Amino acid sequence: MDAYLAVVSKREVRQYTTEPIPEATLTRILQAGRATGSSRNRQPWAFVVVTDKSHLAALSRHAYSPGNLTGCAAAVVVAVEGDRDRFDAGRVAQNMMLAAWALGIGSCPNGFTDEGAAGAALGLPAGMRLPTVLTLGRPAPGAPRPRPGADPERVLGRVKRKPLEAVVHREQYRPPASA
Ligand SMILES: Cc1cc2nc3c(=O)[nH]c(=O)nc-3n(C[C@H](O)[C@H](O)[C@H](O)COP(=O)(O)O)c2cc1C
Repeated sequence: MDAYLAVVSKREVRQYTTEPIPEATLTRILQAGRATGSSRNRQPWAFVVVTDKSHLAALSRHAYSPGNLTGCAAAVVVAVEGDRDRFDAGRVAQNMMLAAWALGIGSCPNGFTDEGAAGAALGLPAGMRLPTVLTLGRPAPGAPRPRPGADPERVLGRVKRKPLEAVVHREQYRPPASA
């Protein structure tokens, strides 16, 4: 799938079939995370893959949306060394989710209510930050479908986001007229 089409067609998928993710597919997704750039190429991250149902249930107790974790085929916790690495974690997460999308695997980023407790449950060193856990799985019937179309410009017309003019400022920021 074309990279731009992957970006604009992607939906967040929270409903998954029970089908396990083939190991080769999971590896490709993780390699997309590994290939991500980072500040000074420090690669300050660890990816913890969780597929065991009892481990997913334990981890879900620290998640904002527990059902996303208990219902997924695999979760990938993106842990980073410190707060300054959160941007790099975001880059990793989006790369993995886009790689997954192009392989027909749905995903959703999830937040932890207590990063320390989640990290301890996974055996991560104390002090590591857990900006996100990605839930992954084959989209279930009824899950959001890709925004349809092969022409990214047309697909963009279906994106429910603020209009470009509301978020882009040329040369200088200008507040909205009503502010
Ligand atoms: C930092 C971050 C944390 C998120 N946490 C959750 C979460 O805990 N639970 C959840 O269901 N979705 C979570 N999401 C997914 C958003 O709700 C999603 O991006 C939004 O609904 C847009 O979805 P769409 O592209 O399918 O329209 C999170 C997204 C981000 C960027």
